[in-house]
Amino acid sequence: MSLGTPDTLRFTKIPLANGFGAMPALGFGTLIPDPVATKQATKTALEVGFRHFDCAERYRNEDAVGDAMQEALKAGAVQREDVFVTTKLWNNNHRPERVKPAFEASRRRLQLDYVDCYLIHTPFAFQPGDDQDPRDERGRVIYDSGVTLAETWRALERLVDDGQCKSIGLSDISLEKLQEIVAAGRIKPAVVQVESHPYLPQWELLDFCRQHRIVLLAFAALGHGLEPKLLENPVITTIAQRVHKTPAQVALAWAVQRGAALLTTSTKPHQIRENFEISTLPEDAMQEIRDGITAKVRFNPVTETGVPGFIPARQVNVK
Ligand SMILES: NC(=O)c1ccc[n+]([C@@H]2O[C@H](COP(=O)([O-])OP(=O)(O)OC[C@H]3O[C@@H](n4cnc5c(N)ncnc54)[C@H](OP(=O)(O)O)[C@@H]3O)[C@@H](O)[C@H]2O)c1
Repeated sequence: MSLGTPDTLRFTKIPLANGFGAMPALGFGTLIPDPVATKQATKTALEVGFRHFDCAERYRNEDAVGDAMQEALKAGAVQREDVFVTTKLWNNNHRPERVKPAFEASRRRLQLDYVDCYLIHTPFAFQPGDDQDPRDERGRVIYDSGVTLAETWRALERLVDDGQCKSIGLSDISLEKLQEIVAAGRIKPAVVQVESHPYLPQWELLDFCRQHRIVLLAFAALGHGLEPKLLENPVITTIAQRVHKTPAQVALAWAVQRGAALLTTSTKPHQIRENFEISTLPEDAMQEIRDGITAKVRFNPVTETGVPGFIPARQVNVK
C-alpha cells in the first residue's frame, strides 16, 4: 500500500456462507460486569465505528447493550442493518424446549426484531432451570446428561427457520465436537467463537473453518490483559514500533489479516478508539508473529468445564 492510500482493514466484513449477511471482522465484546459501564462502552464503541457487538444471556447486561443500541438507532447515528449483533444461549437452557424462550428473552432485552447470530455459548449442558450456575452441596457443577449438543443444535436450526435469527454457531467448542455438528447439522454453523490470539492461534481449527466456510471469531484477542502479557511480548512491541502502531493494534490487525473475526473489550474510550483504528500489517510482520511467538497459553478454561472465567496463566517463558 502506498502512502496516502486509505487503509480499509478496520472495515473488513466476512460474508456468512452458512447464514445471511456479513460479519464485520472487528467486534466489540460486552463482557463488562457493570451495566452502566456496559451502556457507556457500547455507545463509545458505536461512535468510534464498531458495528459488531458480542453479547450473551450469561453476561446479564443485554438490556444495557440494547439501551445503547436503541439510542444510536433512534438518533439515526446507525441503521439496524449496518450493525451485527450476536448473543448466546447459556448452559442451563440446552433442553430443546428451553431454547426458543431463552432466545426470545435475549432478543427482548436487546430490543431487536432479529439477532444476526445466535451461538451455543458452551457445549456443556447444565441442569435445566433458572439457575445459571447450578451446584450440588459440595459445590460441584450439576450437568445435564438428558440432552445432546445435536438436539440443542436442532432447536437453534428452528430459530433460523422462524426468521428471527440470521445465523447460528457454536462457542468454546473443540474441533472434534465441531466436526460432529458440521456432519450432522441441516444448517451448518456460520460462526465458531473461541479464545484465540498469538499465544493460542488455533491454526488447525482455523483451517477447518476455512474449508467449511465458517467464520472463526476470536475472543480475548488481546490476551485479556493477563500474564504473560501479549501486549508486552517483544515480537509484538518491536513490530508496533516499526509500523508506528500500538501493540494492541498489531495484535488485532494480525487476527483480521489471517482471516478471522475478533472480539476485544475495553471500558476506556481512548482504548476503544485505538482498537478500532487498525491498519494492515506488512506480510513479514505477519510471519514474524507466526514464527516468533511460540509460547502456548490458554487463559480461559471454559472449554474444559463450561464454567466461564479467566484465570491468570501459569508464568511461561514467552517468546
Ligand atoms: N465465548 C466465550 O466463552 C467468551 C469468553 C470470554 C470472552 N468472550 C467475548 O469476547 C470479548 C472479548 O474478550 P476479552 O475481554 O478477553 O478481550 P481482550 O480485548 O483480549 O481483553 C480485554 C482486556 O484488555 C484490555 N485492553 C483493551 N484494549 C486495550 C488496549 N488498546 N491496550 C491495552 N489494554 C487493552 C482491557 O482493559 P480495560 O478494560 O482497562 O480497557 C481488558 O482488561 C468479551 O467481551 C466477550 O464478548 C467470550
